[in-house]
Amino acid sequence: MPNNKLMEKIVSLAKRRGFVFASSEIYGGLNSCWDYGPLGVELKKNIQDFWWNEMTLRNDIVGLDSSILMHPRIWEASGHVDSFTDPMVDCRQCKARFKADDLPQDKMEKRQCPNCGTKDALTDARNFNLMFKTFMGPLEDDTSTTYLRPETAQGIYVNYLNVATVSRLKIPFGIAQVGKAFRNEITPGNFIFRTREFSQMEMQYFVKPGDDEKVFEEWKERRMDFYLKLGIREEKLRFKEHGPDELAHYAKTAWDIQYEFPFGWQELEGVHNRTDFDLKRHQEHSGKSLLYFDDVSKEKFLPYIIETSAGLNRTMLTVMLDAYWEDEEHKRIVLKLHPKLAPIKAVICPLVKKDGLPEIARQIENDLRPHFPVIYDQQSSIGKRYYRQDEAGTPYGITVDHQSLEDNTVTLRERDTLEQVRLPIPTLLDEINSRLKADWKP
Ligand code: GAP
Repeated sequence: MPNNKLMEKIVSLAKRRGFVFASSEIYGGLNSCWDYGPLGVELKKNIQDFWWNEMTLRNDIVGLDSSILMHPRIWEASGHVDSFTDPMVDCRQCKARFKADDLPQDKMEKRQCPNCGTKDALTDARNFNLMFKTFMGPLEDDTSTTYLRPETAQGIYVNYLNVATVSRLKIPFGIAQVGKAFRNEITPGNFIFRTREFSQMEMQYFVKPGDDEKVFEEWKERRMDFYLKLGIREEKLRFKEHGPDELAHYAKTAWDIQYEFPFGWQELEGVHNRTDFDLKRHQEHSGKSLLYFDDVSKEKFLPYIIETSAGLNRTMLTVMLDAYWEDEEHKRIVLKLHPKLAPIKAVICPLVKKDGLPEIARQIENDLRPHFPVIYDQQSSIGKRYYRQDEAGTPYGITVDHQSLEDNTVTLRERDTLEQVRLPIPTLLDEINSRLKADWKP
């Protein structure tokens, strides 16, 4: 399938099935803003839970939820006020704005606008800060200016000593956080891949200086394993190291985990060695000591930080693209999602709307619903009902038929293989739970 078609198909499926809608649609939409519908919130939550469990079901990592608005001096200390910029160029004629790095050399030389074609229309490149500015309180002046956070990381750095103390953590340890971040991207796009409002899943791991390179390698491998566990195909994933001119202002070493999107290989997650850059800067700007005291060696030092930083919305897009399958043989579209990620785990269908079958199906629905999301469907033919759920990624289908009246059994259908087994109704919960817990490969 041509790659651009795949993006179109995912956008259309996302809207059709209620994963993602354009934000403010009745007002014509708002560029690069998206709303997550009933299936989208479940899928996003399941990815977040998968990440959260992976990070915090360990004895050395705890969670945090810091606020989006923070003291404006945090962003001076972190370097974002001075360095979180993209060089951009404006067209004086049509007012379009471009990232200077994206413009072809020949257009830049002639100062020709790629949008309206006017020559000598482009301005010099100027640095544009990507942080969203806002005001706190009733006055809109410089003293009340603050920013929507462009990364969740800083909330962890300024809290790290509090967290370590209350949790009695000893180095090495980590702090995990999931939350919204905002960037006034010049060129957002590709659906939910690059947006101005998005969620990050970040973990900051504090280590003794000198141990950083070894720990960095360990986290790099662990993070790649995470995407394989999500069921993403191995051949679509790779590592890419940042060259010296690509490194963010805080990083000593940075590797991206990339996915082969329909629009090319792109970053899914960044693993960074931030050294003691951030803690040192916060110590200088706040005047407060952020030294860690090692009560074994009796040393005081600023820890080095290994960061793993993933985009939640971008992971959701990746999971959906990777799972999309047009099953030619059975003329159906399937979202081959990892069962743990699937928004709905099972559809329950009475074969016909009479003879007492709906009552049995409703009872199964009521019994399963407290354990995981299920859906009841008695509309149209059984084939159509299953195909509707295949497209939504629902891994299991349960059919109540006339034999159910005689022996209290039903069929359980598996989404990808179409295999059907006959099972006693009382065993359904255990069977589905054990399938949901099992390792899974696409
Ligand atoms: N704290 C480090 C940091 O923020 P980053 O490489 O700028 O590093 C990390 O961002 C991840 O956040 C990216 O790999 C991506 O998944 C996600 N991300 C960044 N900007 C994004 C945007 N505009 N829209 C959606 N996701 C974004």
